[in-house]
Amino acid sequence: MSCLLLGKNGQVGWELQRSLASLGELVALDRHSTLADGGCGDLNNLDGLRETVARLRPTVIVNAAAYTAVDKAESEPDQAYALNALAPGVLAEAAQALGALLVHYSTDYVFDGSGTAPWNEGAATAPLSVYGQTKLEGEQMIAAAGARHLIFRTSWVYAARGSNFAKTMLRLAQERDHLTVIDDQFGAPTGAELIADVTAHAIRQTLRDEACCGTYHLAASGETTWNGYARFVLETARTLQPDLAIQAREVAPVPTSAFPTPARRPLNSRLDTTHLRENFGLNLPMWQHGVRRMLAEIL
Ligand SMILES: NC(=O)c1ccc[n+]([C@@H]2O[C@H](COP(=O)([O-])OP(=O)(O)OC[C@H]3O[C@@H](n4cnc5c(N)ncnc54)[C@H](OP(=O)(O)O)[C@@H]3O)[C@@H](O)[C@H]2O)c1
Repeated sequence: MSCLLLGKNGQVGWELQRSLASLGELVALDRHSTLADGGCGDLNNLDGLRETVARLRPTVIVNAAAYTAVDKAESEPDQAYALNALAPGVLAEAAQALGALLVHYSTDYVFDGSGTAPWNEGAATAPLSVYGQTKLEGEQMIAAAGARHLIFRTSWVYAARGSNFAKTMLRLAQERDHLTVIDDQFGAPTGAELIADVTAHAIRQTLRDEACCGTYHLAASGETTWNGYARFVLETARTLQPDLAIQAREVAPVPTSAFPTPARRPLNSRLDTTHLRENFGLNLPMWQHGVRRMLAEIL
């Protein structure tokens, strides 16, 4: 059993290096890896990706690389399409030719965010942004290639490594006495650790039982808003690190319209994870659990 990981230095990719290591031999690449280093990891280099898969002949390909700059994608649609749609399509064709399993990540941004009910996997997609549209096209290209695959749609990803919303809130709360944070987008902050652990578990089970292939919603349990998330981060930080110079006494709620951004974001990002939990016999912890752990790690 061997595994090829692309995007090893992203939030999810970094945690996958840990969780996939016990599955078998792991070759982990980033965008700078070349064929001379043992494999091309640049999603812009489609021939390089084909050649890498053909040479390494992995049992499983895990693609954690993507174009994730949601606002910038509005002005760079071709680049977003190349990384989020064309490259996964090529990986899926290469996986199909080899009989390998392809694991890929998608997003709650494939939905338009209408209503209040959690989205299940069969719900109609209608992305509001270039990022969401290109991620959806990536899903469609993988399905069209006919490869055995697992696609995990996740939401509001954070990790101890790299920058994230929680770290930004901690920094701003030390610089300002008043924060304003959106309170009309609903979702679940989901740790890269959890995503990586679930991925490894799902791969093991899917290699034994092909019927597990398909698309799954993967997010922590519970729900909040960005405002509720920010409040939780600051309250927890105060408990974990009483010496921290948090100035902010208030996290004022504002609607999304108060912070215009190039990309529109869904108001309802709740994901129904029943399919994942039932098929893989998993419990998904409440979102506060992982955020608390991440804060304990970084503070
Ligand atoms: N972040 C979220 O809130 C979120 C929400 C829902 C779904 N997702 C999905 O979850 C997956 C993992 O996201 P993440 O949060 O781990 O993203 P991330 O931290 O932004 O990592 C993405 C990785 O892709 C790499 N990359 C960019 N361009 C590349 C290229 N041309 N070739 C190879 N690698 C390239 C980046 O490398 P550099 O560091 O060198 O740029 C980075 O390491 C993605 O599919 C994303 O769409 C994320």
